[in-house]
Amino acid sequence: MDADTTRQRIDAAWRERYGQGAAPEALPWNDTIALLMRHHSVRAYKPDPVPEGTLPLLVAAAQSAATSSNMQTWSVVAVSDPGTRAKLAAIAANQKHVEQCPLFLVFLADLSRAGRIGERIGQPMENLPYFETFLVASIDAALAAQNAVVAAESLGLSTLYIGALRNDPEGVATALGLPPGAMGVFGLCVGYADRDVPAGIRPRLPQAAVFHDERYDAGVDADLLASYDATFEGSRHGGGGSWTDRVRNRLGRISQLAGRDGLKPALRRMGFPLK
Ligand SMILES: Cc1cc2nc3c(=O)[nH]c(=O)nc-3n(C[C@H](O)[C@H](O)[C@H](O)COP(=O)(O)O)c2cc1C
Repeated sequence: MDADTTRQRIDAAWRERYGQGAAPEALPWNDTIALLMRHHSVRAYKPDPVPEGTLPLLVAAAQSAATSSNMQTWSVVAVSDPGTRAKLAAIAANQKHVEQCPLFLVFLADLSRAGRIGERIGQPMENLPYFETFLVASIDAALAAQNAVVAAESLGLSTLYIGALRNDPEGVATALGLPPGAMGVFGLCVGYADRDVPAGIRPRLPQAAVFHDERYDAGVDADLLASYDATFEGSRHGGGGSWTDRVRNRLGRISQLAGRDGLKPALRRMGFPLK
């Protein structure tokens, strides 16, 4: 590809990702970066199955992510059974794609394996009950899942995280037969996008809002957010309304937590003391 074409692609990708502004003059570029910048969630899937071998490949990609102290405190459950899918969809506020997508994965923060190791070797695992260890497991699960997302998208598949499984973590645990110390942090739909249903890139905040040089600058927000609101509202795939409206809707009222305000006691009942 000649330099002009590459530059045009960079500019187009930048415009889509940010909806405004221009890409820096000098920018390293390759297919991996282009893939990452094209990411968008998909909420409608064709019934076509994913190609054979996709599942072990996604798991291998997930297992290739960094993991705290190589403890690998996560697991993943693939759910095909229609009855179980229906239960999970109901927990996730009836999101139809949970039942519709050909492959549905539930990523777990999983301290149960370490607990079993402790029992086997007769070592009380003093650190397991701490909030820090739960956080480690949740971060591990998220990093693993994101590797699976990138791998899936590199194969032409689309994805959607389903955080709404946390509306009822105990319901998820019952549906999947999880042991104490394992929690579904989110689901992941994988499949071929139904192109009849519009989906596309959602512009992100200007870099200056999220990137700070040396010291955090809380003073940059107001102007940047006003321009981002306008960009977001005008974008085809923003989902309607300004970004500030979305944040207000999501964080402004307790009802939007859809039961997740009870997450801490639920986790404690599930074997995470969160000390
Ligand atoms: C952990 C996590 C949980 C999410 N849960 C849901 C969900 O339950 N339902 C949904 O439609 N989208 C969900 N999303 C997708 C986000 O809404 C989406 O990533 C965001 O709007 C940005 O859009 P994009 O992924 O197309 O760039 C989730 C994303 C993440 C990272």
